Amino acid sequence: MTIKPKEPLASVDYYMVGISKLPGFDKPIKLSSNESALGMSPAAIEAARQAINKSHLYPEVDTEALAEALAERYRLDPARMAFGPGSDEILQRVVNTFASPGEELIHSKNAYMQFPIYAMLAGAIPVAANDLDFHYDVDTILSHVNSRTRIVLVANPDNPSGTCLPADEVRRLHAGLPRDVLLIIDAAYEEFADRDDYESGTRLVHEFDNVIVTRTFSKVYGLAGLRLGWCYGPVGIVGSDRSNYLKRSQKLCFRLRGEA
Ligand SMILES: Cc1ncc(COP(=O)(O)O)c(C=O)c1O
Repeated sequence: MTIKPKEPLASVDYYMVGISKLPGFDKPIKLSSNESALGMSPAAIEAARQAINKSHLYPEVDTEALAEALAERYRLDPARMAFGPGSDEILQRVVNTFASPGEELIHSKNAYMQFPIYAMLAGAIPVAANDLDFHYDVDTILSHVNSRTRIVLVANPDNPSGTCLPADEVRRLHAGLPRDVLLIIDAAYEEFADRDDYESGTRLVHEFDNVIVTRTFSKVYGLAGLRLGWCYGPVGIVGSDRSNYLKRSQKLCFRLRGEA
């Protein structure tokens, strides 16, 4: 007898991170992971420098100051935010929270490669919906919905396909889902969406109680190594009530108290 990981984990593929070797360059940035070519802002470097001095203390669990700052920046409700070390970790935590073994998570076939992995880590079944020349196909996604479906996960804009769904398509997708199916909108690249008909998923969060949006400091703020992500969702799921799982389980890998 040998120890073995749980059965579904045997089929989990490694996530392929971008190769960072280029002759003549010491440490090239990974454009495949959308690392910033501009680096961190000097203000972020200074805040991190100060924060590192307090690393013997556990990170702040009440992330109110950060939530207030983000709420002001994006005109959102701080009570609907929860945080984690990167949006990847939050996505995994959300999927783990809502999908049980045997239940299904639908994603688009050529979308962010981690989506099926989140499902498998939760023991759930990833269902890949065919796309249309790398563009999400809302009708095909909806055709896969059945009584086992718990989550539909879209990245908008998506990586690596580089595609972006307009507001009316996201709303059509949401309208086609039963109320007990969670629509997760991974908006790691929201700040880069340049189409006029793009709509922030946060608007849907204000209108419906089955939508969660994830965001990150990794891309637009060039802070990938800091691992700071956040999500925006129904108060009953991510809200400040400490009985909420997402809030209770939020951990930060970097200090956020005061100046950071
Ligand atoms: C579509 C998408 N979502 C989420 C992430 C995760 O970003 P992070 O965990 O750094 O917040 C990435 C990073 O490459 C991504 O491309």
